[in-house]
Amino acid sequence: MRIMENKRETNDIFRWIAPELELLEQTLAEALASPVPLIAEIGMHLVRSGGKRLRPALYLLAAKSCERFDEKKAMPLAAAVELIHMASLVHDDVIDHAETRRGTETANAKWGNQIAVLTGDHMFARAFSLVSRKGYSEDIGDRLAALVQGLCAGEILQDSALYTANHNLEEYERRIAMKTADFLAICCELGGLVGGASAEVCAGLKAYGKAVGMAFQITDDLLDVTGDAERIGKPAGNDIRQGVVTLPVICALDASPAREELCTIITNRNMTDEMVIRALEIVRASDGIATARIRAAAYLDEARRALPETVGGEARDAFLEAAAYIGKRDF
Ligand code: FPP
Ligand code: MG
Repeated sequence: MRIMENKRETNDIFRWIAPELELLEQTLAEALASPVPLIAEIGMHLVRSGGKRLRPALYLLAAKSCERFDEKKAMPLAAAVELIHMASLVHDDVIDHAETRRGTETANAKWGNQIAVLTGDHMFARAFSLVSRKGYSEDIGDRLAALVQGLCAGEILQDSALYTANHNLEEYERRIAMKTADFLAICCELGGLVGGASAEVCAGLKAYGKAVGMAFQITDDLLDVTGDAERIGKPAGNDIRQGVVTLPVICALDASPAREELCTIITNRNMTDEMVIRALEIVRASDGIATARIRAAAYLDEARRALPETVGGEARDAFLEAAAYIGKRDF
């Protein structure tokens, strides 16, 4: 139920591009059709299991805000960025042994790891075939390939730092840039490129996407500490359980009176549910939550300032609403 509400909220923010988002769903369904029934079935399961479509929405918003917007030309790339995102989540759920995402069973839980990995690979290849076939410049394929390399490198960096306690803000921000913000940045930039915007406008759109992406991931990490399972569609304290150290925890490790106890818990690969609950208690009682909120708000201010002046009217309203929504989202 909550998932449907989430979807409605994002639909409302992006109402100016409602027709394009509708066409996107159709394009995604077509892209995932396959003569192999199991591939088609998993594809439909993934398309139907929700998702905010934030990446293609930002891309389409950026593209439509430009003078030379052409829906037909823009759409395959919108589907491609969502497919890359979906493929990365399918693989991420295998890596994390996740059983639910957005309140729905993951592909690995439903069909097993082997099928899930292959489905992710299949979607990923489909995404790049959309990019290479539809007359986009080579540059776009290169940028997306670089993005995916960054995504994978970010995951590897994160993996190497699991269950460790010596983190700092700079290293944390580098990691969340690679895993989230660079993706949102490229979506906004590609929208500008496909819409025929100047290099300066594309750079402004990219800076907006990067800052919004940093705020988005910091908020996501905050929700892992403050949210409840039903609302966020996955168990609270998931990051701690999996050894991923996020900003609120880094702050608590620095300043909480119970920092030694927290350090012992988060570096324990065999931590129990009780230990996760205790770690959450320590982090919630520290100033880590407030610090992370301030940091996210600062990035949202940066995003608003980065938005090119040429982006006006309903497009500007939608970009500003998207930034406001990221600041107050609770899922
Ligand atoms: C979710 O983060 C994961 C990512 C944003 C990126 C995962 C990337 C890969 C697995 C590299 C492979 C990429 C491709 C395209 C095949 P999270 O674990 O913090 O969020 P969650 O709580 O929603 O799982
Ligand atoms: Mg994960």
